[in-house]
Amino acid sequence: NRVVLAYSGGLDTSVILKWLQQTYNCEVVTFTADLGQGEELEPARAKAEMMGVKPEHIFIDDLREEFVGDYVFPMMRANALYEGLYLLGTSIARPLIAKRQIEIARMVEADAVSHGATGKGNDQVRFELGYYALAPDIKVIAPWREWDLTSRTALIAYAEQHQIPVPKDKRGEAPFSTDANLLHTSSEGLVLEDPWAEVPGYVFSRTVDPEDAPDRPQVIEIEFEHGDPIAIDGLSMTPATLLAALNELGRTHGIGRLDLVENRFVGMKSRGMYETPGGTILHAAHRAIEQLTLDRGAAHLKDELMPRYAELIYNGFWFSPEREMLQAAIDLSQKKVNGMVRLKLYKGGVHVIGRQSPDSLYSEKVVTFEDDAGAYDQRDAAGFIKLQALRLRLLGRRDQ
Ligand code: ARG
Ligand code: SIN
Repeated sequence: NRVVLAYSGGLDTSVILKWLQQTYNCEVVTFTADLGQGEELEPARAKAEMMGVKPEHIFIDDLREEFVGDYVFPMMRANALYEGLYLLGTSIARPLIAKRQIEIARMVEADAVSHGATGKGNDQVRFELGYYALAPDIKVIAPWREWDLTSRTALIAYAEQHQIPVPKDKRGEAPFSTDANLLHTSSEGLVLEDPWAEVPGYVFSRTVDPEDAPDRPQVIEIEFEHGDPIAIDGLSMTPATLLAALNELGRTHGIGRLDLVENRFVGMKSRGMYETPGGTILHAAHRAIEQLTLDRGAAHLKDELMPRYAELIYNGFWFSPEREMLQAAIDLSQKKVNGMVRLKLYKGGVHVIGRQSPDSLYSEKVVTFEDDAGAYDQRDAAGFIKLQALRLRLLGRRDQ
């Protein structure tokens, strides 16, 4: 009996590693994903080895390109926002971690997988729906729902008892809980739990305070092909490189901070602080290129489907037939979403200042306030309005 643990190398998952070995008397295989969280991952290897994990059972995989190319960009094509505001930075990473974990479980012939998400949150649902969709008979171990380490103090005591190094800043109460990847950093809990109290400055890790951002705006151009960004200022980049470049621009100009109270799938409300610098720029730019290239019918249908699509991702249903159906529709809509968007970045704001496309549906000739030389016959509008008004007039006559 062998279990594959989603292992960050941090204190919590190190305790889980040891706890699995002891409680289940099993061989633990660790999997650490590089999703661009900006942390050194080799220390995770050393720690796992120190706790007796065999070298061939330590997996550290760079998933950055797959994450952005196959998860983040498809989601951005939908302009997905949960509850109107959240760009789903944590939600979209979980299915990829689950998928890779199951692949590794198959490779090493493990019969179980384990993760470090608590029993109160969304992440447990996302991991486990992914596991079960891809390996229906897998055994799942969620230590936070099983063990009796119910406080920070108990966790640290357990770590010290088992020679697991406890970082100095974790000895006191950790000030909050974070999750980071190329798309975002989220912070929740403890100092953030009072929704009336402003988030302290030290919580932010990847954006400058907009008040301290440069006094001069910066203009950039993003090129899109089939709904995906492919170049910034004429420089072609791979998905992960492009998102990283947008993150740097967003950091400098203090873009993408969000203080949100949201509804978790399990039923409670939680307050979080998100930093999504590149994603926020991309969201604005993608909407702008769609303005030119999508027909009204397609655009409005997309906007109706979007909240459903976002909720599926939030709730952990990435690997579901309904998400795939919506994705197929969204992807089909992006065929002609090509062209360039010009944006101004300034003190926390992203402002679209221009867009152009070889596939534009915008016709200056039709819309002009000047003489349109017969492109549009204004007299047609009279009949159009008259028929639209017919039922309103029948109603008006009856009810006056
Ligand atoms: N509330 C956000 C979400 O559900 C962020 C979750 C953060 N997860 C974490 N393990 N800190 O997507
Ligand atoms: C957790 O509970 O592990 C993090 C928060 C969440 O999953 O919503």
